Amino acid sequence: MSMKDGFFWGGATAANQFEGGWNKGGKGPSISDMVTGGTHAVPRRITPELEEGTYYPSHEAVDFYGHYKEDIALMAQMGFKMFRMSINWSRIYPTGYDLEPNEEGLQFYDNVFAELKKYNIEPLVTISHYETPFGLTEKYNGWASREVIDCYIRYCTTLFTRYKDQVKYWLTFNEINSLALPIGSFLAGGILFEGAKLLYDDKDTPQTRFQALHHQFVASAQAVKLGHEINPDFKIGCMIGYLTTYSNSCNPDDILLAQKRDQLSNLLCGDVQVRGAYPGFAKRFFEEQGVEINMQPEDAKTLREGCVDFFSFSYYMSIVESTDDSLERTGGNLFGGYKNPYLETSEWGWQIDPKGLRYTLNHVYDRYQIPLMVVENGLGAADVVEADGSIQDDYRIEYLKSHIEQMKEATADGVDLIAYTMWGCIDLVSASTGEMKKRYGFIHVDKDNDGNGDLSRTPKKSFYWYKQVIESNGEQL
Ligand code: BG6
Repeated sequence: MSMKDGFFWGGATAANQFEGGWNKGGKGPSISDMVTGGTHAVPRRITPELEEGTYYPSHEAVDFYGHYKEDIALMAQMGFKMFRMSINWSRIYPTGYDLEPNEEGLQFYDNVFAELKKYNIEPLVTISHYETPFGLTEKYNGWASREVIDCYIRYCTTLFTRYKDQVKYWLTFNEINSLALPIGSFLAGGILFEGAKLLYDDKDTPQTRFQALHHQFVASAQAVKLGHEINPDFKIGCMIGYLTTYSNSCNPDDILLAQKRDQLSNLLCGDVQVRGAYPGFAKRFFEEQGVEINMQPEDAKTLREGCVDFFSFSYYMSIVESTDDSLERTGGNLFGGYKNPYLETSEWGWQIDPKGLRYTLNHVYDRYQIPLMVVENGLGAADVVEADGSIQDDYRIEYLKSHIEQMKEATADGVDLIAYTMWGCIDLVSASTGEMKKRYGFIHVDKDNDGNGDLSRTPKKSFYWYKQVIESNGEQL
């Protein structure tokens, strides 16, 4: 079995974790630039004023800003067909509410797209990936205010017109469903609740958060419509951080709980963006939470007219739901759940579940019947550089191989899967912990958790393995 002809094999990154150059070329600060480093045990802090002597991982990240030619050449060596990257909003609009874009910022991405074209690598551009300009947090408390929709649309208009002939595939928001969960408030929404000090703080009001999510839904729908007007060939997708959820038992109470988790964490956002309207279950959920979404009269029409062309998602793990709260818990992407005795976990406690990917692909495709892309998947691991300088990351190959096998099964099941961009194809900063130690890449970057290192790039064993996967269109794993 192999993937369909023209399948987009590639890798994924996000500017806030990869690009660096945080104050170069006229760029303003983004929300991620105000977040300190951390570890698995030490939470990242939000500092609305930068502290002298404190380490901020996004400021240099791994300096794609200064290494983009070398990095793209390495991707080309692996045979990449697609590269998922994000544009740093505050590189284009430094405060977010400026009326004119920053030309130097636009030129940087002109150069990146020209380099990708040289190697026939198709860009997949995330318009907003945890990079809301910090100016929008200061002025409007981020997406809590409706005014931010206009700022986002101004930014989209600039991108769509400038890169009309360079970029065909776009994602409006990374993991838009982060805002359906308290941990998304700052990172995804740019909302700074009073007293919130930690990146994942529990200071939160569902009313503000879901109103912010509604603003993003409207912004996304407006962007889809606008993009299609500017270039009818554009393909614009949604992006959901998929939290595949199993019931712990056949107890109907557990089943209902798992279903509810899937509805609220995943399907709520998917339904609005793919079907163009809030699903039935949202009404009861909002009532129970005391949430009242303030909708403008034109919003329903906007959502209906701005349905996405394809559905993309990140998939790292699955979780278990149960009514028995004495069960052992496990960590995870966005949030954890109960431990699944049938699965192994990564060093960071994420449950490894390749078959869950096949299950998810079928589940999503059955519901929406539009092309799917897996735009993030991978294993965060602490790699060891051997005495001869090599990195023997067989565990990563094993993880990726088992997931790609399940993508092939899903394709045979009839799912229209068109792309796979492995997360963090070149080592980058971890979003949740701010570490460099949690590495995902095919390519090692010499940099540690405290920012030491010469940023040199070294292909790992998985680099050569992935090259052969792409060459054989997934046949040779
Ligand atoms: C996704 C995000 O949730 O998971 C990425 O879109 C993030 O930005 C990735 O990096 C992996 O998570 P982490 O915490 O290991 O970096």
